[in-house]
Amino acid sequence: MMGRGTGDGGRGQTRWRWRLAQAACVAVVLVPAALIVVDLLRDALGANPIEEITHRTGDWTIRLLIGTLAVTPLRRLTGWNPVVRFRRTLGLLAFTYASLHFLTYAVLDQGLFLQGDVLGYLGEDIAKRPYITVGFTAFVLLVPLALTSTKGWIRRLGTRWTALHRLAYVAAALGVLHYLWLVKGDQVTPVWYGVALVLVLAPRVGWNRRGARAVASVPRGAVGPVVPAEFLSKAARSVETR
Ligand code: HEM
Repeated sequence: MMGRGTGDGGRGQTRWRWRLAQAACVAVVLVPAALIVVDLLRDALGANPIEEITHRTGDWTIRLLIGTLAVTPLRRLTGWNPVVRFRRTLGLLAFTYASLHFLTYAVLDQGLFLQGDVLGYLGEDIAKRPYITVGFTAFVLLVPLALTSTKGWIRRLGTRWTALHRLAYVAAALGVLHYLWLVKGDQVTPVWYGVALVLVLAPRVGWNRRGARAVASVPRGAVGPVVPAEFLSKAARSVETR
């Protein structure tokens, strides 16, 4: 009884430590957003505050998207499994910055809620300027990912959840393309983001190929616990290698 109590206490403590680490991660990542508010209040956002806010929130969106996708390779390469606990947190923070970025454009730049037919005007602008179309598509792709990031949705969707969350790769690639497209002149920074994205995505190709080969090597018609075990481990791996 006592032993079990101690064990539960230990587990509870570990859980609290992880919660604390996650809260610290959220607090740190929200510092740039807080700095925007501070600089806004101090009138320190330069000659064009809306442009500055758009740039800062856009930069943090792409950094956090790539950071989220870096968690799995980091875990696989270092064997440090607990790092996976930060993936969802980072993904939701990326979505938070993407929402701030979009709202800066829609509300502050385009005047959504302030003018009459601004929705029509907004749609026109999104359709007319290709880099905005691409950025908007990336943002739209992130919406279902944020909505289905809970444990309940992971359970409900099963292996379809993994397939759906592969949209994060597409969203990040479109984010880089959006940046490459909008920059006039020096493209060094968006190119570096592109390189970083390729580096975090490339290892998955090898892992997925190996996973597919392992499944193909299961004898056809194999019965008993062999088949379910293979498929279960493949399903688990595919969630892990997202
Ligand atoms: C996942 C989605 C998105 C990502 C990753 C992203 C990323 C970025 C980045 C990195 C920048 C450049 C920042 C800099 O210059 O330092 C940027 C600028 C910008 N983005 Fe996005 N963006 C996204 C979605 C959107 C959406 C949905 C819109 C509007 C519908 C949008 C509109 C803009 C605008 C207007 C700029 C400034 C362009 C300029 O300087 O002329 N972005 N974005």
